[in-house]
Amino acid sequence: MIEIPVKTASEYSVFIENQPINDLFQKIISFVGNKKYIVVISEKVEKLYGKLLPFDKSVKFILKDGEKEKNFSNCIKILEFAMKNKLTRFDAIISVGGGVAGDLAGFASSIYMRGIDFIQVPTTLLACVDSSAGGKTAVNTKFGKNLAGTFYQPRVVFINPKFLKTLDDRQYKTGLGEVVKYAFIEKSCQCNEEFNLINFLSENTDKIFERDEKILKRLIEICIRLKVSVVEKDEKENGLRRILNFGHTYAHAVEKITNYKKYTHGETVAEGIKFAFELALQKNLIDKNYKYFAFDLIKKFNFREIEKYDTAKLAQIMRLDKKSDGKKIKFILPSDYSRAEELEIGIDEITAF
Ligand code: GLY
Repeated sequence: MIEIPVKTASEYSVFIENQPINDLFQKIISFVGNKKYIVVISEKVEKLYGKLLPFDKSVKFILKDGEKEKNFSNCIKILEFAMKNKLTRFDAIISVGGGVAGDLAGFASSIYMRGIDFIQVPTTLLACVDSSAGGKTAVNTKFGKNLAGTFYQPRVVFINPKFLKTLDDRQYKTGLGEVVKYAFIEKSCQCNEEFNLINFLSENTDKIFERDEKILKRLIEICIRLKVSVVEKDEKENGLRRILNFGHTYAHAVEKITNYKKYTHGETVAEGIKFAFELALQKNLIDKNYKYFAFDLIKKFNFREIEKYDTAKLAQIMRLDKKSDGKKIKFILPSDYSRAEELEIGIDEITAF
C-alpha cells in the first residue's frame, strides 16, 4: 500500500492499493468508525460493484452518470438526503465514482452544516490521477462548467486501480489526457522527487493500454505526488496551482462550444495541450523539435480527433474564463522540457492565432 500524506491546512492521506473491492469496503467502514454517513455512488459503479460495496440501501444516493448531473439540483437532493438520514456536522459524506460524483459530493460536503467530513473513493482514471485529491469541488451552471464551487479538502482518498479494469475505453482515455498534462509540467510541479513521467509514458504505453495493475498503480502515484506537491504550495490557486490548468483553457472553450456533449474532458485537454505547444512555438518559448516530440507522445495515446473550431469564437468563450479579466487571459504554455509557465495573452492575439 502506498500512503501519500497531503500537508494542506487540514492534513490527510491519499492511499493507493490494488485490493479486492470488498477489502476496500472494510477500510472505508473502519475509517468512518461510528460516524453516520451517506454514500454518493455513481449508477454505473453501483451496478458493477454494488454487491462488493454493501452499504445499506438507506444511505445510498445513486447518482446518474454524466457531466450534466453535476448541478445545483442534485446538490440540494444530496443535502436533503443527508438531512433525512439525520447527519450532523460531525458525520461524513462518502463519494464513490468519477469526477462528477467527487466534485458534486465534495461541494455538498463543504456546505452541509458549514462543512462535514468528506471521503473520496475515485473509480475513474481521471478521478484517480487528478480530481480526487487537492480539494476542488464544483457544480456546473448554465453559463459553464465548474463556475460555482469551493476549496474543501477530503479527510481521506482511497484509490484502488482495480476499478479501472471495467472502465469503458473512452472514459479510460479521458484520464490519460490528464496524465499527459502531468508529463509536460512535471518539472514545474517543484516536487522533490524526479519521475521523468514523459519517459515512463513512452516506455510503458502498451502496458498502460493493457491496464496493467502495477503500471497503473505507479502512474497514479506519480500524478498524485506531482499534484500534491503543487497543492501543498498553493492550496487556493493563487499562483503555482494554475499550472495544473495546462491545456484546460482551450479545452473548456471546446467543451462549451460543443455543449459538453461531443468530446470527453481528456480529449479536449489533449487538444488544448497541442494548442498550447503551437502558441508557445509561435512565441519562441520552445523550439519546433520539442513541439514535434510532444505531438508524437500525444499521438501514441490515440485520442479522438477534435474538429478545428474558429479561434475567434473560442477566444470569445475564453474571455469569460475564470482566468480572464476580459481582455487578457492567463495561459499556461510549455517553456522547456517538461516545464510550463503562465503567460498573459491578449484575447486579440488568440483571435488572430
Ligand atoms: N484539476 C486541477 C486542480 O485541481 O487544480
